[in-house]
Amino acid sequence: MNILILGSGGREHTFAWKISQSPLCKNLFVAPGNSGTAAIAKNVNIGVTDFPAIKNLVLEEQIEMVVVGPEDPLVQGVHDYFLNDDAIKHVKVIGPQKVSAELEGSKEFAKEFLYRHNIPTAAYESFTKETVEKGYQFLETLKAPYVLKADGLAAGKGVVILNDLEEAKSELKSMLVDAKFGQASTKVVIEEFLDGIELSCFVLTDGKNYKILPTAKDYKRIGEGDTGLNTGGMGAVSPVPFATDEFLSKIEERIVKPTINGFKKDNLPYVGFVFIGLIKVGDDPKVIEYNVRMGDPETEVVLPRLKNDFVEILLAMANGTLKDINIEIDERAATTIMLVSGGYPEAYEKGKEITGIDTIEGSIAFHAGADLKDGKVVTTGGRVMAITSYGANYQEAIKKSYQNIDKLHFDKMNYRKDIGFDL
Ligand code: AMP
Ligand code: GLY
Repeated sequence: MNILILGSGGREHTFAWKISQSPLCKNLFVAPGNSGTAAIAKNVNIGVTDFPAIKNLVLEEQIEMVVVGPEDPLVQGVHDYFLNDDAIKHVKVIGPQKVSAELEGSKEFAKEFLYRHNIPTAAYESFTKETVEKGYQFLETLKAPYVLKADGLAAGKGVVILNDLEEAKSELKSMLVDAKFGQASTKVVIEEFLDGIELSCFVLTDGKNYKILPTAKDYKRIGEGDTGLNTGGMGAVSPVPFATDEFLSKIEERIVKPTINGFKKDNLPYVGFVFIGLIKVGDDPKVIEYNVRMGDPETEVVLPRLKNDFVEILLAMANGTLKDINIEIDERAATTIMLVSGGYPEAYEKGKEITGIDTIEGSIAFHAGADLKDGKVVTTGGRVMAITSYGANYQEAIKKSYQNIDKLHFDKMNYRKDIGFDL
């Protein structure tokens, strides 16, 4: 079959890498893609939320499956767009419909879902411009640190954690009254702070059945020792060493099962990936957030460990037959280190030539913010390339990634040298 992937990051290069290995895939397209996907698929320069252009491409190229990488098109209803158009409604779209994508699109919607289905999560209340005074009072009842979350999508920047009560109040005011995050902060969720170590759990579902993929841990801060600003993710490790069988079974019983049952009870149609952000508080998992897509860079360590034909799995998700799939996982650990542009996550320069990619041995370079220009691979974004390796354990895998990174270069290249330091 002909397959289209929407997106242009390391996650989408990894999807393309895995899908292109399947004998079930005839022609593979990526919109818009990057220099990594250009080598194994046909890139088409269409934006991920340009639904009419996506429809034209699907019809022209007889595409039968669309795999959605990022959250934006899902929250904007790309799946519904297909279902509501006779010419393309036969196409299998991997990614939930708009109503279900609200699990990522609205923090309040997610919190209400978690509470309704008794899934462990932080206590919270939500506030608007009209109730900002109540918000100040609520903050006064909490202990520091204070967790404030813009309700809507804010490009990963909408969560602010502050130690000082007065600062927290002024942040709440700037979110609600001064629209710091625009539309996204017309509502703000204030949460109890959870203290613990984070990990991500990835679930595939056809709406009725589910399968759990390996866990992963990402490193969100720019600086070593988990310091400095938040980024999209600076590296990842899978499996997560502290996720023992006992802990994993708590995740499945207390979180995954009630989540999938919740979709059924609430009539939330869901064919796609559920990314559950978790925190281990004491010995118990609690949900920090849902995302309705795979994580990036977690995908760069999770998919390389999946032994199955990925297209077979995607078809089973779309056809409602996921229960017949037996997930097979590579025993080896996988790790990835993200190379980023100097200055990221603040201002950075683009257009720097990346050299040494051909000299990589024993690792995989998943391209992210990188594209072809005059036959050269150049930087186009903050997160540039994820270097993934396998190993008998995560230490061995990380070592291999760092050895290969020594052979790579671009002007002002930066990366964290301590991925896995806390495990
Ligand atoms: P989110 O966008 O919801 O994933 O939040 C971004 C980050 O903020 C998370 O990865 C956590 O590190 C942190 N965070 C969010 N909610 C909480 C909470 N209730 N307690 C502690 N940390 C949190
Ligand atoms: N790495 C975190 C995310 O994809 O949201």
